[in-house]
Amino acid sequence: MTSDIVTLSNRLVFLLGVNTGFVTEGAPDSRFLDFYRSRSSPKLHCAIVGNVVTPGGFGSNAVTPTLTTEPVWADLVTAIRAGGSLPGIQLATAWDGYTGSRKFVAAEPREFIPRARHLVEHMGSEDVAAVLNSFDLAANVATQHGFGHIQIHAAHGYLLNLLVDYRINRGATSVLDRLALLSERLRHNGVQTSIRISLKTGDPDFDSAGAADFQDTIAQLPFDFVDLSSGFYNIDKRLIYPARPEIVAARLQESVAVGLRYPRRSFILSGRAFNHDWAGIPSNMHPGVCRDLIANPRFLQEPDNGCRNHSKCHYYSRGGDHLTCARWAED
Ligand SMILES: Cc1cc2nc3c(=O)[nH]c(=O)nc-3n(C[C@H](O)[C@H](O)[C@H](O)COP(=O)(O)O)c2cc1C
Repeated sequence: MTSDIVTLSNRLVFLLGVNTGFVTEGAPDSRFLDFYRSRSSPKLHCAIVGNVVTPGGFGSNAVTPTLTTEPVWADLVTAIRAGGSLPGIQLATAWDGYTGSRKFVAAEPREFIPRARHLVEHMGSEDVAAVLNSFDLAANVATQHGFGHIQIHAAHGYLLNLLVDYRINRGATSVLDRLALLSERLRHNGVQTSIRISLKTGDPDFDSAGAADFQDTIAQLPFDFVDLSSGFYNIDKRLIYPARPEIVAARLQESVAVGLRYPRRSFILSGRAFNHDWAGIPSNMHPGVCRDLIANPRFLQEPDNGCRNHSKCHYYSRGGDHLTCARWAED
């Protein structure tokens, strides 16, 4: 572990998006602020506040907050910055009628991609433009609150994920062009940017063709970081939160393959990131951590004391309405 810590000292550590459910009447509440306050530290480069819905957008469950001009968001920024980390925000939307699967592997995993193609085909160009406009607006509002890192959530089968992948959306190129403009504008304003994608969906037929080409189109966009996640929520959630050793190993290998193809682009690598030997991971890749920091807010100071795979944090799958953890007591 000691040599890992030494190697990691050259990398930037991210707290990845977590949909905590600590929301009252659609807005972050005191539990939400405490969650991020207690995990921010000089050892954490950036805390990316998870799954925040763009104005006019649709949440992936009933407890996802929508970004507004309310001062609570600036209070959250202040709390994270006071702890010593860069305040980041992950902007996302699902769609009207979206329901997340409670099961880890969907009952009919092969049905999602055809439904996704149908959904996208029936969106007119004005509908797509409205979605992109809401991301532009959200980015402006987030910047005004003081967020210093803005992440576009184009992973896990949410709406932007469907729109950026030419295997699902024939008009993906114009969406990518708009996102390139957004990231350039943010960079010009001194804001760090990232885009989160899924390396695979979990549908073996779909994943067997075009995945590397899709990853390459994303890696060519001018975002500061590409955050490499995996899995679609309504196909196979085991890829999103890998636990089994073979799934963790496959995610590492697939992530490193992308990092090696684009040595000048920076990437966030996740999936039990602190269990890996970082000496062998390309220097353009940075660790993203979620469950270890849920389980122990001081995990970066105590890297042997993290998540033990109790799976209690999967509150939505378990029918709950907010984050719980067998190791971390909320108060
Ligand atoms: C309770 C919980 C909530 C999550 N919420 C989000 C989210 O809102 N957005 C997102 O992109 N990923 C979300 N994830 C996935 C994590 O960001 C992360 O990619 C995943 O847990 C793998 O990293 P880890 O092995 O360090 O936990 C969530 C994970 C957990 C366990």
